[in-house]
Amino acid sequence: MSLSVVILAAGLGKRMKSQIFKPMQLLGGKPMIAYVYETAKRISDSVFIVHAKQQELVLKDALPESDCQWVCQESQLGTGHALKQVVPFLNKQKKILVLYSDAPLVNEVVLHDLINATHEKDLGLITMHTDNPSGFGRICRDKSQQFISIVEEQDASNEEKQLQEINTGIGLFPLDFLKEALLSLKNNNEKKEYYLTDIFGLAKEKNNNVHLLKVPFSPSLLGVNDKKELGELERFYQKQQAQWLQKQGVSILDADRFDCRGNVQIGKDCTIDVGVVLEGEIVLGDNCHIGPYSYLKNCTLHNNVTVASHSVLEGAILHEKAEVGPFARVRPETVIGEQAKVGNFVEIKKTTLGAGSKASHLSYLGDAVIGKAVNLGAGTITCNYNGISKKQTVIKDSAFIGSNTALVAPIEIGQQAVIAAGSVITKSVPDQCLGIGRSKQQNKTRFFRKEKD
Ligand code: UD1
Ligand code: CA
Repeated sequence: MSLSVVILAAGLGKRMKSQIFKPMQLLGGKPMIAYVYETAKRISDSVFIVHAKQQELVLKDALPESDCQWVCQESQLGTGHALKQVVPFLNKQKKILVLYSDAPLVNEVVLHDLINATHEKDLGLITMHTDNPSGFGRICRDKSQQFISIVEEQDASNEEKQLQEINTGIGLFPLDFLKEALLSLKNNNEKKEYYLTDIFGLAKEKNNNVHLLKVPFSPSLLGVNDKKELGELERFYQKQQAQWLQKQGVSILDADRFDCRGNVQIGKDCTIDVGVVLEGEIVLGDNCHIGPYSYLKNCTLHNNVTVASHSVLEGAILHEKAEVGPFARVRPETVIGEQAKVGNFVEIKKTTLGAGSKASHLSYLGDAVIGKAVNLGAGTITCNYNGISKKQTVIKDSAFIGSNTALVAPIEIGQQAVIAAGSVITKSVPDQCLGIGRSKQQNKTRFFRKEKD
């Protein structure tokens, strides 16, 4: 059977009260439309996206690799009118599956269930029971539970509003029937819109079969209309991800306080403490521990890495047994070597820290290449910027940098060199040398502080 999927995404999403178009609102850090598109593609190669005129560029930007047909709905006259815009582009297909762009978590299993359960000539629709049907189209059935029609909230009588079986919006239509039925849609309703939902009532009137697939309640099938619903779906999605990772063997200490906005690959025996946010592409080896309230974006952690609480890491690679934090800031293009340590209140950027090297407290390391077993005392600063361009600091293996030292780049500190605490180093220091760059201390004898009046 040839089937096309049509994603309706042209609604203006006024209830979002946002400058951002509804399909572009983020769920798990990704626009909702991207989820629906990916699911649609897994169902069929033939995917259409109906968009409003002003959304075209933004949507295409959100799906740069997409392989679908874009169809414009010039004015937003309802879901039925939106689907009608696609009809001229459909000819060989026998069935049309309609998805809404505001239900991003619809999964392909339920879609296959609908496709498999609906006879070729019938219409199919996914419905479900909810204790809170407010805002949704209600499924009206007769006394013998046969489907009659869908009534929208705005048009429903008080009695109909009590109905708790709702229309999820996911429908399957034979193209021949759809083409004709769309022509006879009327907009004589409260919203003065051409409702796609009326097609089902029309089908019934014309003795076409409507197959209702009533599925168990799942938030993943609820459309998102405002920020409250979006927030609720975000929590549902995050919990789903956390629980999935738990099933894979990751210890997530509180599934309600975990967020992943991207793709993660996590090894065995890792622990993720409360409030951790993972973003982008994240790879964790075995036995890694991420402390409370840390944020990791596009990072790779090899085995046995520890990130202590309240650390922020972006674009970094951490080798085996590296330790970071608490309160560390690791910025892009940083590589932290085996057993190296970046401690509290250390900022490190575009820097390679060799194996076993340590910057345990209060430092800024930027544009530096630091060898193995280097000790960077508290308050070590690489002065990498002269106001015009960034310069490099090279520190060779086993050097010892005393506390409160400014290394003015470009500069090279030799192997096993020692820098005296409190120095401002402007010239390179050769191997095994002591570099001191500070004024000599004087002690003045018989000095007494003035008494207060
Ligand atoms: C719709 C259904 C309702 C169902 C609910 C499920 C209709 C008339 N109502 O209501 O029965 O319970 O979804 O979530 O279909 N869109 C367009 N062009 C338009 C209008 C809408 O493309 O002119 C798109 C929107 O971008 C959205 C989808 O259609 O993706 C649904 O529109 P929305 O306004 O959210 O419909 P609901 O009021 O939620
Ligand atoms: Ca909706």
